[in-house]
Parts: sequence; C-alpha cells; structure tokens
Amino acid sequence: MTWTDVLDEKALAEGMLQVVYPLGVNVVLARVDGAVHAVAGACVHLGCPLFNGTLVGHTLTCPCHDWRFDLRTGRFLDAPELGLQVYGTRAEQGRLFVSLDSTGGTP
Ligand code: FES
Repeated sequence: MTWTDVLDEKALAEGMLQVVYPLGVNVVLARVDGAVHAVAGACVHLGCPLFNGTLVGHTLTCPCHDWRFDLRTGRFLDAPELGLQVYGTRAEQGRLFVSLDSTGGTP
C-alpha cells in the first residue's frame, strides 16, 4: 500500500469529520471510538460534500438528502448495493496517513 500523510493526528477529535485531499482525492476522515475511518468525500447520490454531514456512532448522514452510510463498510444503509469507497488509514509519529488503495466499499 502507498500511504499519504494527510493530517496532524491531534487535529481529528473523537466524533469529528475532516476533509483531506491525499494526492488530490476528496476523502473524509472520522474518528469513532478512537479508530480513524476514511471514505470518499462526495456522496454517491448527487455528490454533496460529506464532511458537512452529521456523524452519530459509525453512521455518516449526508447533509443534502439524508442518505446514511456506515463508515466501516461505506455501505448506504437503505440499499447496501450502493456505497462509498473505503480507504485505509494509519497513524505514525503523530501524523495520520491514508492509502488510496481500496479496502472495500461499493464505489
Ligand atoms: S447528495 Fe447525498 S443524499 Fe443526496
């Protein structure tokens, strides 16, 4: 996997959404129960920016038409055949890294 440095680890608090652009790709980061998740930053419905959405547990709700996604799998909760690309994350020496190599999801 190729890893791209995207953010100071302290900049992503628990329950927070943050947009980052590893290699120019729109990605949303979220920290839930201490774990960092990364999914595609544009909603699969009409492309609204998901970093403006709301996060409750692992459920990310799009700000435009309330489509809900599971951050762990990227799946659209009302139609699991649809979903967001999921990316790998890791932390090292106080920095967060994203891998654009897919780890799942249903783009
Ligand atoms: S653009 Fe996200 S639900 Fe419509």
